[in-house]
Amino acid sequence: HFNPMLLYKGFWIPKFMLQGALAMEQRFKPRPTDIILVSFPKSGTTWLKAMIFATLTRTSYPLDQHPLHTHNPHQCVPFIEREFATGRSQIIEAIPSPRAMSSHLPFSILPKTIADSDCRIVYVWRDPKDVLVSLWHFTEKIMGGADKIPTFEQLYDSLCQGVNGFGPIWNHVLGYWEESKRRPEKIIFLKYENILQEPVKHAKQLAHFIGCPYSEAEESQGVVEQIVELCSFQKLKNSDGNKSGISFAVPDQDISYSYLFRKGEAGDWKNHLTREMAERLDTIIEEKIKGFGLKI
Ligand code: PPS
Repeated sequence: HFNPMLLYKGFWIPKFMLQGALAMEQRFKPRPTDIILVSFPKSGTTWLKAMIFATLTRTSYPLDQHPLHTHNPHQCVPFIEREFATGRSQIIEAIPSPRAMSSHLPFSILPKTIADSDCRIVYVWRDPKDVLVSLWHFTEKIMGGADKIPTFEQLYDSLCQGVNGFGPIWNHVLGYWEESKRRPEKIIFLKYENILQEPVKHAKQLAHFIGCPYSEAEESQGVVEQIVELCSFQKLKNSDGNKSGISFAVPDQDISYSYLFRKGEAGDWKNHLTREMAERLDTIIEEKIKGFGLKI
């Protein structure tokens, strides 16, 4: 298997990332001002990395010269477990406060020091049917030419069984959902589809949550709209960020920047799943999240 996984504390974690998670447990020191973005893969990570980074640094550069025009959001906001797994934890330590970092780890596998610290967590999730479609296209690209590319049906079955990197997806989402209800000041729980529908509203909500709300002057000057535009699918896709590929599937091989941007829409699953497949996946997820007050 190109990306072996291990079952750890009830989750399927890519072996390489598990090494990173265990190293984090030993050595990661959260700061009270840290912002940690967490997501299940293919749920809007790249977009939210850009949004968080742009929001935090909006007064450090003229917006037409912002680093996001030339840098991959994954370079601006690194994956903590990846840097720990590759022995590059100094990259994380060297980020000036307030740091923006990210993780795909389930809440129960994050170091306990994160839960105990005052740092904040931004969680983003997405309709699992679109996560599946996005993951499928991404897998095809990164495995292009390999002998054993899983078929769409195989990937669908493994998602339904919860056997995907960082899955089961429902337990990933529920871990953060439950904690966000308990500690809303610590975890903000966002949905990809809702951000797409009302990006400006969510940009303001995010800025407020991460401790740098927009001033009235900024709002009247249209800064919120400019940040949303800077982080839009088209802008990121066409930026010069492709100079810096980054991989999280294959440890030491960087992937093409273009693989991170495909359609950037809600509901593309309608072009990939039969009605029966969609209903079955919805039923499985609904059954698992029933009683927790969460809707797909
Ligand atoms: S990863 O590999 O886990 O970091 O991937 P992730 O970024 O979570 O998910 C990739 C999908 O997000 C879409 N995308 C965006 N949507 C809206 N706005 C912006 N700015 C944006 N940037 C990336 C990307 O196209 C993938 O979704 P699909 O459905 O495949 O298009």
